[in-house]
Amino acid sequence: MIQSGPAAPPPALSAHGITKRFGSLVANDSVDFDVHFGEVHALIGENGAGKSTLMNVLYGVLRPDGGSIRIEGRDVSFASCSNAMRAGIGMVFQHFLLIDRFTVAENVLLGRERTRGGFTDRAAAESEVRELAARYKFGLDPAARVEALNVGARQQVELLKVLERDARIVILDEPTAALAPAETAALFDVVRRLRSEGRAVILIAHKLKEVMALADRVTVLRRGKVSGSLPIDRADAATLATLMVGKVIDLDAREPRRTAPGDVALAVRDLSVLNDDRLPAVRGVSLDVRAGEILGLAGVEGNGQTEFAEALYGLRPPSGGSVTFAERDVSRLSAEARRSAGMRYVPADRQREGLVLDFDTAENALLGDQRRTRRGMRLDLPLGQRLASAIDARYSLAGFDPAKSAVAYSGGTQQKLIVGREMTDDVRMLICVAPTRGVDIGAAATIHRRLRDVRDRGASIVLISFDLDEIRALSDRIVVFSEGRIAGEFAAESATDAQLGACMAGVSSVA
Ligand SMILES: Nc1ncnc2c1ncn2[C@@H]1O[C@H](COP(=O)(O)OP(=O)(O)OP(=O)(O)O)[C@@H](O)[C@H]1O
Ligand SMILES: [Mg+2]
Repeated sequence: MIQSGPAAPPPALSAHGITKRFGSLVANDSVDFDVHFGEVHALIGENGAGKSTLMNVLYGVLRPDGGSIRIEGRDVSFASCSNAMRAGIGMVFQHFLLIDRFTVAENVLLGRERTRGGFTDRAAAESEVRELAARYKFGLDPAARVEALNVGARQQVELLKVLERDARIVILDEPTAALAPAETAALFDVVRRLRSEGRAVILIAHKLKEVMALADRVTVLRRGKVSGSLPIDRADAATLATLMVGKVIDLDAREPRRTAPGDVALAVRDLSVLNDDRLPAVRGVSLDVRAGEILGLAGVEGNGQTEFAEALYGLRPPSGGSVTFAERDVSRLSAEARRSAGMRYVPADRQREGLVLDFDTAENALLGDQRRTRRGMRLDLPLGQRLASAIDARYSLAGFDPAKSAVAYSGGTQQKLIVGREMTDDVRMLICVAPTRGVDIGAAATIHRRLRDVRDRGASIVLISFDLDEIRALSDRIVVFSEGRIAGEFAAESATDAQLGACMAGVSSVA
């Protein structure tokens, strides 16, 4: 006898046969995807696999070339994201869309301002946003300007925008890529809370640990097609890596170095640097980096690491102290002059500092190159094209075309373009901030290999990363930054996460 129980409810959202092309490039190829209320469904895959494209289709930003979407069993078709919002979908984009000069409350309520007697009611808006923030344990000040917030707080503002509209289907496109470990943990709590509130959550992530910790189900995209979809209890890191890139990858393994470090190449003495608000960000830091050495700089984001990196590369003048590179005081040199001396830089914010998004790939590959112009003025585009092709050969840029604007590449692909441009064979000193932010595990492994290779060729590397696993896997020595000072120094082979974590939190300063 057939037992007839109550019919299972239809998925919160189901997409069937979604196809999306950009010219001849098929970004989504007949993709099926669904998510239920009370479920976290992770979407993973290589850079350029089509994850953001699929989400942009579900959120009404892009019109699909084929396929259908249902919300709770009913067919929908979105002409814009406001339609999708009305249908209960909210999305936090891979690259944030906040207005820097506006306050937190203004950003959250943008387009839905609270008014009283024809005037905006600032107090009402702020207290409403304060209440909503408190419900999710966000320590945000509704009156603070977004430009003053760090990445973790900005992301909370984006989440509040979605929650203020009470979205029941929440899309998070790589929410953890830019977060420090403590912020990631806090975000996980929020995601679990969204699930327990009965919302449907779609989570895009590159770190398999995060996927395993959070998701109920995981779907893998590979070159625009679904290569697998399984419940999380049937998934393990090796299976997922294989579905994503076709092989098993262990990113966290340390590798023995091939050469001994040489002489001191970079000497920083008593360096002090101010932040944008002219407050001390780096307070009297001294350190040495040898030729052929990777110095890992660990710490919670916002403890002066970024300002330190900018000062090393000449983008921020020191307020005190000195930087000596190859026995030459470079403290007052411009970034361009430091580049001529062999310094290279991978910045934290790829879209604002690393690329000119409107420029094409070849032009971006030329940025900062001393040979970029020919006969005085004109850009040497053939050289740019050769450089771009060389980057593509090493890192395989998804959808590569030298004439394509940087903005049209997927997030991780943009990161590869910067890393490829900066890590050339002739680099003598590399300052990199979060070099694998947003790149897939295959590309992260390529970048790690390349960092070791550049080191073994004798370059000095300052590696700033908010990912402790990355710091531990790559560094020869680790220093921990806390409140603009060096809080501890550790031998990379023996430092434990607990020691590093305690030092980062300012609990202990003894190694
Ligand atoms: N506006 C566009 N014009 C042309 N090509 C595009 C455009 N947007 C995306 N693409 C291409 O579509 C493909 C899929 O990109 P998508 O951004 O969806 O990848 P992704 O899986 O989100 O990658 P990532 O992990 O790097 O964020 C890429 O090859 C990309 O270059
Ligand atoms: Mg993406």
